[in-house]
Amino acid sequence: MKKLAIFAAFVLMGTASFAQTTNLPKPNMQRQTLSVMEMFQQRKSVRDYSPEQLSEQDLSDLLWATIGANRENGNLTAPTAMNRQEILLYVFTEKGVCRYDPKAHSLTLVAEGDHRDIVAGRQAFAKAAPVSLLMVGDFDKFGNNDDHAKSLVSMDAGYVSQNIDLFCAAAGLATVPRATMDVKAIQTLLGLNENQVPLLNNPVGYPKK
Ligand SMILES: Cc1cc2nc3c(=O)[nH]c(=O)nc-3n(C[C@H](O)[C@H](O)[C@H](O)COP(=O)(O)O)c2cc1C
Repeated sequence: MKKLAIFAAFVLMGTASFAQTTNLPKPNMQRQTLSVMEMFQQRKSVRDYSPEQLSEQDLSDLLWATIGANRENGNLTAPTAMNRQEILLYVFTEKGVCRYDPKAHSLTLVAEGDHRDIVAGRQAFAKAAPVSLLMVGDFDKFGNNDDHAKSLVSMDAGYVSQNIDLFCAAAGLATVPRATMDVKAIQTLLGLNENQVPLLNNPVGYPKK
């Protein structure tokens, strides 16, 4: 199976003189998955993961299902209040951290190295997942950060996380939605401003055999 060569490519490239954005393979719309009813039957939190890396196609399909653009008008697989599309999605692996661009279906390197520990926080099991997906609420993009905005942005993050849960259930991957993480360390690493708030994360891997 083809592994996450894109991350290896980032590390090999090393310096900023190379383009740091990589296109993902096209999502496989004919992918064989469980039926909707079987998917709901399988949806559950899983905290044990195989150390096997996700294939490029599985990562591509996972990211597209999570928050990819699914219409010509640029709307996404996850709804957002007033269509503000303010949930930023970051991908943590042992090789580095990338930001997912839903419109281009591409990954842009943000930080090299293994930083899954700061997403895991005090729950060590989460570091064992080959991929952790982090949802950041961008209140600048939302245009407001009052209490009502906070609840709407949190709901939007929940939809994105639920897309991950359901894709994983249908595709035979393992995940759990988590609020636990080291928020301060993540904000520092990713260079987030005070209006860009880590809200939820999902470790994702193949189920442990
Ligand atoms: C918003 C939210 C935050 C959660 N945070 C964590 C967490 O930090 N760590 C964890 O292990 N599970 C976390 N969970 C998973 C819940 O513990 C889990 O969904 C619940 O126990 C029910 O189990 P089930 O998902 O298998 O039905 C979270 C779930 C939600 C919806």
